Amino acid sequence: MEYKLRKAEPRDVSDILRLVKELATYERMEDQVMMTEAELLEDGFGDTPFYHCFIAEIQGESSSDDPKVVGFVMYYFTYDPWVGKQLYLEEFYVMREYRGLGIGSELLRNLSDLAMKTRCTGMMFVVAENNEPSVQYYKRRGAEDLSQEEGWRLFRFDKDSLVKMGTPPEE
Ligand code: COA
Repeated sequence: MEYKLRKAEPRDVSDILRLVKELATYERMEDQVMMTEAELLEDGFGDTPFYHCFIAEIQGESSSDDPKVVGFVMYYFTYDPWVGKQLYLEEFYVMREYRGLGIGSELLRNLSDLAMKTRCTGMMFVVAENNEPSVQYYKRRGAEDLSQEEGWRLFRFDKDSLVKMGTPPEE
């Protein structure tokens, strides 16, 4: 099966949201996806893009069919003052029926090439502890498990905590 990788464009937001929801369902957290297409459009393709994606698509059965988006990676740039620029891999997903064809590896190859081009020194990401197939997939490619090896813990301030810490609204 032939596939093609390309950078996401504004017209892709509905497919991006579809794949985001599929991945959330795979992780049994679909009820936590709050984003709309309009928000994804603004956040990814406005004046300051907050994320970027590479899209994998497959040509339909006949040449007149539109290509079908079957996988993606979502990433952005972060900064580590010890070692400099880093890529952050936010989402990585290939639809079940298209797995095992090398699409995932090709998406990661694109990210590795981008990291080298932009002189990033690493790519960070979080994996759910119970997603053992993915843990093994990343380890086979050389990823280090920082929770295990360096004892880092993942934290978040949610919106309520931020509001509490922030400047109180004027009476
Ligand atoms: N289905 C799934 N995996 C298969 C497979 C199949 N039918 N046949 C083989 N595999 C194995 C391959 O051996 C290969 O591993 P290896 O290259 O280390 O030996 C791997 O699974 C598939 O490699 P590849 O074809 O390059 O990747 P992919 O296109 O299947 O995509 C994922 C990889 C992780 C994106 C995909 O499996 C996926 O979407 N998983 C569910 C979502 C997920 O866990 N995402 C990561 C969240 S952190």
